[in-house]
Amino acid sequence: MRSTLLLLAFCLFLTACQTAEATAVPAPYRGAAPPSAGFLTDPANIEAGRVLFQRHCAACHGQTGHGDGPAGHTLRLKPANLADPFGTARQPPDYWFWRVSEGGRAEPFHSRGSIMPAWKHHLTEEERWQVIAFARTLAGQD
Ligand code: HEC
Repeated sequence: MRSTLLLLAFCLFLTACQTAEATAVPAPYRGAAPPSAGFLTDPANIEAGRVLFQRHCAACHGQTGHGDGPAGHTLRLKPANLADPFGTARQPPDYWFWRVSEGGRAEPFHSRGSIMPAWKHHLTEEERWQVIAFARTLAGQD
């Protein structure tokens, strides 16, 4: 009985590790931080990010980030609901920076058919952090 429980606990542990590994932030993004302390909560950055979000992200993710933008409806893999307080909003800044920079090229999202663009080709580092600053406020506006 005791060994069965131990085996069960071990299996659960392995599963947890695999889940964590699937979304682990890869180098060189692991540990990436905004340009300065307080950057993500600075109202000027949030406002600049709002303009960038409306221009570049809302078509898929929706004006309020719920993943319901007009272009998103046709996609096989739906845009993430950035407004879900238990979803992407819980992820640390380096996760956000990785996903916004590399988009759907990163695994496992690429294999699932993601067409999330890689914003490192279109937005500067500062702009990416600004759009992240805004996107992270979306989960608080429900
Ligand atoms: C062409 C449609 C499209 C556009 C435009 C787009 N996205 Fe996405 N995005 C997606 C799709 C589809 C996913 C879900 C698949 C994935 O995670 O790669 C996604 C996923 C994400 C994720 C990862 C969520 C998670 O929990 O892993 C973030 C963060 C994100 N988008 C932010 C943005 C931001 C910020 C912009 C604008 C700069 C943007 N997206 C523009 C389609 C788009």
